[in-house]
This record gives sequence, C-alpha cells and structure tokens, in this order.
Amino acid sequence: FSLKPYNTFGIDVKARHFARFDSVQELQELLQRPEVREEPKLILGGGSNLLFTKDFEGIVLLNGIKGMEVLHEEGDYTYVRAGGGEKWHDLVLFCLEHDLGGIENMSLIPGTVGAAPLQNIGAYGVELKDVFVNLEAVQLETGEVHTFDKEACQFGYRESVFKHSLKGQYVVTTVTLRLRKHPELNTSYGAIQTTLQEMQVQQPTIHDISAAVCHIRRSKLPDPAQIGNAGSFFKNPEIPVLLFDVLKERYPDMPAYPVSETSVKVPAGWLIEQCGWKGKVIDNYGVHKNQALVLVNYGGAKGENLFQLAHDIIASVEEKFGISLQPEVNIM
Ligand code: EPU
Repeated sequence: FSLKPYNTFGIDVKARHFARFDSVQELQELLQRPEVREEPKLILGGGSNLLFTKDFEGIVLLNGIKGMEVLHEEGDYTYVRAGGGEKWHDLVLFCLEHDLGGIENMSLIPGTVGAAPLQNIGAYGVELKDVFVNLEAVQLETGEVHTFDKEACQFGYRESVFKHSLKGQYVVTTVTLRLRKHPELNTSYGAIQTTLQEMQVQQPTIHDISAAVCHIRRSKLPDPAQIGNAGSFFKNPEIPVLLFDVLKERYPDMPAYPVSETSVKVPAGWLIEQCGWKGKVIDNYGVHKNQALVLVNYGGAKGENLFQLAHDIIASVEEKFGISLQPEVNIM
C-alpha cells in the first residue's frame, strides 16, 4: 500500500497494511482484530510532520474522526471541541466563523487536529498550549479512552509527553480548546505588524490577523500540494547566553530571542543560511529558497536522500557554530 498521498513530503514508501477509522468505536474494533493486534502500528493524521526513510512493516491507521462543535461558555471563554481527523486549518476557520479568538495566528498550519498536541504546534507568537483544555485519546494496547489535561500533556516547545514516554501509544480522538469571545490579539511578531500595515488595517480583528498570517506563510513556506515538504525540518536551538555572547563577537548579525536568564533561542534558518544551504538543489530535492529551515522534495526524492541532507546540514552547522540542530519532524 503506497503511502505517497499520505505524507506531505510525498515520499513513495509502502506499508504492509492500511486502515481508516471514522469513530472511536471503529478504532476500538480494529484494535481487537488479531491481525491488527500483532502488527506494529503507525497513526497518521495529515502526515505533515513526518519523513519516511523506508517501508513501514506494519499497519498504518488513518484517523478520520470528524466533527467540530461549540460546547459551552464560561465568562469570557467559549469551549470548542474537534475530532482528531479534522484538518487543523478547518478548525481555525470554524473559530473565525464563530468570532472566537485564540488560534488565528496558527492559520494555515498543515496537519490535523489530532496531531496538533503531539508537537504543541505553534506559529507567530502563539502555541496550541495557550488555548488547550484537554484531549481524549484511545490507548492502542487496551482500547480504553483516556483524558489528558494540559498538565498531563507536558507541553514544551514542539514537545509533549506523546513524543516521549507515551510515544506511539495513543490515538488522539478529540481536542478541546478554550477560546475568547472578546479576542486578545497577538501582534508581537514583526512580520504580522508589517503585513497589517501593508494591508492598511488600523484596528485589526482576528480575521485580519488570520489574513496576514496566511499571506506571510504563502510568501515564505512552500505549499505541500505543490512542493513536498514538512514545514520546519529542525527546531530552533536553545543555547547558553555565554555561548551566544562569544558567537555574537564573530557573527554580529546573529539573531536570537531570549528564553530565560541564561539561554536564548537562535533561528535555525539563519544558521543554515549562513552555511550556504539556502536554495540549494541536489537532483530532485534540496533546501527551500525562501526559508532555509524547510527541506523540499521536488518530486521523486527518496527519504534517505533527505535524511542524508539533514545530516550534512547538521554537520556543517555544528562545525561552523558549535551548535547541534535537532530535527523537528518525526523520522520513520
Ligand atoms: N532566517 C534566516 N534565513 C532563513 C530563515 C530564517 O536568516 O532562511 C532568520 C531571520 O532572521 C528571521 C528568523 O530566522 O527573522 C525567523 O524566521 P521565521 O520568522 O521564518 O521563523 P522560524 O523561526 O524560522 C518558526 C517556526 C515555524 C513558524 C515560524 C513563525 C520552528 C522550528 N519553526 O520558524 O514553524 O511558522 O517560526 O512563528 O519553531 C513548523 O514548525 O513547521 C513551522 C513552520
């Protein structure tokens, strides 16, 4: 079974078996079948944060659980719940239609609602954890439904418990968010301010912010429907202020954002660009021309090729800056 249509990198690998479920019950029934029980399992959402480097010797389960609903109100807040198989951006549109603020900065992030908590998706100053209430997930081993509140998810920068101690053990079936009826806008990101000015918007609404973010993303990030990619391939590394001070003397233009008293975050895109990778094309794959943090498959590239490219990038950044980049995508 070819997984090419199911990963945004467009890598042509195969899975031994493939099944889709559209409800918790269907998933539970699948999990009880002997042929499913014994197989290694991979849960797929939008496949937008994944690099396949070889065939998957097991069963791929595609989350098709749909549904979006406004639950209840509480003071200034409205609670919204969505099925894990919904597209994340459709949930953003749903909230905009209901004039609910909180996720407009995360417009146009590829992937599904169910995948969003796994890596605590974020963009333009907002992360999922800022609006997250809880999620329901089915435990693969037992078929039981468990609820995880925000604390239980152990969110960090592109991190959650589901990437660590609970990796591969749960399928996220619903996610509940808490949104604002009277939105508090986050325009802290410079590019948003500039774009709003270009749009000649004086008093932005959540709709304007969403339009600005869509504009920025479309201008910088390749559309996976046209060029295979998985968004940022690496995380922005956090380094000690002491190291940053030393590097800043040699590279006065080096950007950084404060994280704590003792550490800063450096944009990996800048480091990679400085090493000469931006826009690099090797056969049918390479590094995106507008954003060095994004690796691209122009068509027909192998997962191993991209994996090797990632290694070469890591090695050259390490050599030049003494900083080791960590992949942000899941490598299978
Ligand atoms: N930069 C360069 N060259 C590049 C790219 C970036 O010099 O080729 C420098 C520039 O100084 C720029 C700075 O890096 O000002 C930041 O770049 P950008 O605004 O594009 O954001 P980023 O830090 O590269 C992160 C997220 C993105 C998210 C944006 C906006 C990570 C790993 N990536 O990228 O998330 O959309 O901020 O908030 O944190 C994703 O996770 O897949 C993703 C796209």
